[in-house]
Order: sequence, then C-alpha cells, then structure tokens
Amino acid sequence: MSAPSVSPSAPTLGQQLAHTARAVLAVRQGRSLTDALADVPAPLRAGVQALAFHTLRELGTCEALVAQLAERAPPPPLRALMCAALALLTAPDAPGARYAAHTVVDQAVRAAQHEPRWQRQAGFLNACLRRYLRETEALRAAVASDPVAQWNHPRWWIERVQRDHPEAWRGILTANNHPGPMTLRVNRRRTTREALAQALAQQGVASRAVGDDGLELARALPVEQLPGFAAGDCSVQDEAAQLAVPLLLQGLPAGTRPRVLDACAAPGGKTAHLLERADADLLALDVDPQRCQRITDNLQRLGLQADVRCADAAQPATWWDGRPFDAILLDAPCTASGIVRRHPDVRWLRRDSDVAALARTQRALLDALWPLLCEGGRLVYATCSVFRAEGSEQLQAFLQRHTDALSAPAPGHLLPGLPDTVGEFNDNRSRGPDGFYYACIDKARAR
Ligand SMILES: C[S@@+](CC[C@H](N)C(=O)[O-])C[C@H]1O[C@@H](n2cnc3c(N)ncnc32)[C@H](O)[C@@H]1O
Repeated sequence: MSAPSVSPSAPTLGQQLAHTARAVLAVRQGRSLTDALADVPAPLRAGVQALAFHTLRELGTCEALVAQLAERAPPPPLRALMCAALALLTAPDAPGARYAAHTVVDQAVRAAQHEPRWQRQAGFLNACLRRYLRETEALRAAVASDPVAQWNHPRWWIERVQRDHPEAWRGILTANNHPGPMTLRVNRRRTTREALAQALAQQGVASRAVGDDGLELARALPVEQLPGFAAGDCSVQDEAAQLAVPLLLQGLPAGTRPRVLDACAAPGGKTAHLLERADADLLALDVDPQRCQRITDNLQRLGLQADVRCADAAQPATWWDGRPFDAILLDAPCTASGIVRRHPDVRWLRRDSDVAALARTQRALLDALWPLLCEGGRLVYATCSVFRAEGSEQLQAFLQRHTDALSAPAPGHLLPGLPDTVGEFNDNRSRGPDGFYYACIDKARAR
C-alpha cells in the first residue's frame, strides 16, 4: 500500500483510517506495530496509534464480520481498511466513539477514494459498511459463536490459555482487550514515593502505591509531563516488572557488595531498579547492540552505573571472567503473552510454534548461566508470559535437570487484572499487574 499524504491542517479521520489500515496490514504481514508506526508522519502518529490499538483489540470480530459482508475475501489492504472502520463501528468504548457512524463510513470511503489501490473498491467498501449499519444485530449474531471473533485472539492462543489456566482464562483474555494502567517506579536514590505522589496530585493526577516502589496512576500521562522524569526521579515500569528486584535482593547476602549479572538486560528497566535499591557490581548484558545503547541511556538519565556489555548470555565462554555471581537475573526472551494489554499486536504476530522455540531458548539460557552462580546464590527467572511452557513447566524441568537447584518461594504466574469499572479509578482500564512469571532458584551449598 502506498503512503497516503498528510494535509498541513488537522488530520481528518479518513487520513487516520488510511494509516491505521496500513499499520494493521503490516502487523498481519508479520511486522511489529511499533515498527509500522514509525512510518506514520509525526503529526498523525498518536491518533493512528490509538486507532490501531483499538482495531487490533477488535480484529477477530472485525475479520469475521468482513467474511460475512464480502462473498469473496477482499484483497488484504481493503480488508485492513474495512477492519479499521468496523472497529470504530462495533466497539462502544472506541477512542473514536465521538464519531457518528455515518461519519466513519463516509471517511473510510474517502480514504479509499484517495488511495490508487483502493479507488476501484470504494463503492464496494461503502456498500459493505452501510450493510453493516443496517444489519448490525444479525451480522454480530452470525459471528458470535466463533471464538476468535468472541475473544479477539487467535484460536491456538485461546486454547492454550484455556489449557494453562482453566479457571482464569476468560479473565486473562478479557484483560488483554483493555489498556493496562500506567505505573511508575520511584528512584529511591533521588526522591520518595510520597513526594512523587504529591507532585502528581499537584498536576491533578491521582495515584496509589503498588509494590515496594510503584505508583499506579489514575490516568496515563506523556513521559515529558511526569514530574522529575528528565531528572531521573521516576521511570515507567509495570507493577509485575517491579517484583524482580525485591526477589533478587531477598537472596543476596547482607553487608557485602554483591556481584550481580542481569543476563538479558535491555532496555535496562530492572538493571536500573536494582541499582536504585542496592550498591552492587552489576554486569548488564544484552545480545542486541541497539538495545544495549538504551540501557546506557536509561542509566544515564537515572544517574546510575553498570558494566553494560553486548554479548550472548548463552555463550559465557565469550564474556565471563570466571568469577561467580552472587545473584543472576534472567529476564528471558519470551512470547510476551503477558503484556498484550500494552502490545495488542503480539497475539496476531506470534505462532503456536514460537512457544516451543522460545521455551528451548529459555532452557538453553538457564543451563548456560547456572554454573556461573555461586553456592548459596540466587537466580531469578522471569518471563512476561502467561504460558506455562515459559513459566512453571520450565521451572519443573530445570529442577529435574539440576539436583543442586532449590526452588524458593516466588509469585509464580501473575495474571493481568479485569477492567476496573467500579473501583477507585473506574476508567475501564484493566488493572493489576501484567501477566508475568517469576521463579526464585537458590543454589545449594556443597556439604
Ligand atoms: C524481556 S527483554 C528484557 C527486559 C529487561 N530485563 C528490562 O527489564 O528492561 C529480553 C531481552 O533479552 C535479550 N536477549 C535475547 N537473547 C539473548 C541472549 N542470548 N543473550 C543476551 N540477551 C538476549 C533481548 O535482546 C531483549 O532485550
């Protein structure tokens, strides 16, 4: 699809729909949404991101409706545009709910008329969207029994969550279709949680304490508007991600300056948290050089220091100096199935086969790093996934392979919370932590 032009005046809904369709098509073709949004002209980006998030949260429903509306499958670019428009028509809590239905149809048709590849199909698009408005109830009833349309996740994903969490699967999938809360981590070296909460309150933003160092905000703010952000007073980090450091600290010997390895560290959220909380010699590794730069930038903003190195954690022979670590954090690469609230594209990008492939990578990393831990030391294993193959099953298999590994108390699988429709903040956001998994594995001392 070629890029629609942007007029110098305020962007129209038609322009935003056209760019949203391009982004959704890119995701359907395997590109991440973050990557696809980088192509959107800056003045349009925030609006297109909101529409793309909304469309991806409704994509199962919308694609099923397109199949009802079009006798033959429309070309993928047109299907993406139909989905972007249908997402605004179907969901009552859409960011574009302020648009009347006839405006959405009119603007989608205009978007089609302005794009050479869609021009010939503008009439067809118009007919389909108008039919949707006439026959909404019947069409929605026709797709209601399709689980992909009902839950807006791929079928394999729904079945896996049902298997892994027989009691909680509905709640997990529901939470995934809502935005998550914005949560901050206070930099204890620079300020206190109370002072940050007060500064937020002065800006008219209520907050509540979560975990040791977190503040969950009543509404999201651009980072530039967070009090003291540029000076390093706080960072944006979900409540679940903030648990890694307390778990690691519990396992460290008191009174010494520990040697700690953060094996998969970029962009450095947990690295920075650890350094805010403890004086430690910290080696932060990541295999991706660009992401390593982000660790350095984040530490610089927060006024913290670590040894940041670009290396493959699964190949210690290439970077380890032979001195054991007192603690290791392995925040392993994973499917990211726990952070779908914040990355609604993830569910459409992953394949079922990715789960086993990533579980093999996690296993290789665990086995490569275990010999680097000192006796009596602690390894915290974390993934931002709700799939048991990347969590509890990984731990069980590890304990069977390593007789010197002792499982210490840990949160296990954390699940995202249901939307808050009655609570303190009452904004229909999913509340509670992201989906995450934590295991604490202590190394037995030789007798
Ligand atoms: C879940 S992210 C880590 C997030 C980070 N701990 C934080 O809190 O900001 C996983 C990271 O693992 C890195 N990674 C993947 N394979 C790796 C390997 N073999 N060695 C080192 N880093 C790896 C990825 O580049 C990615 O940055």
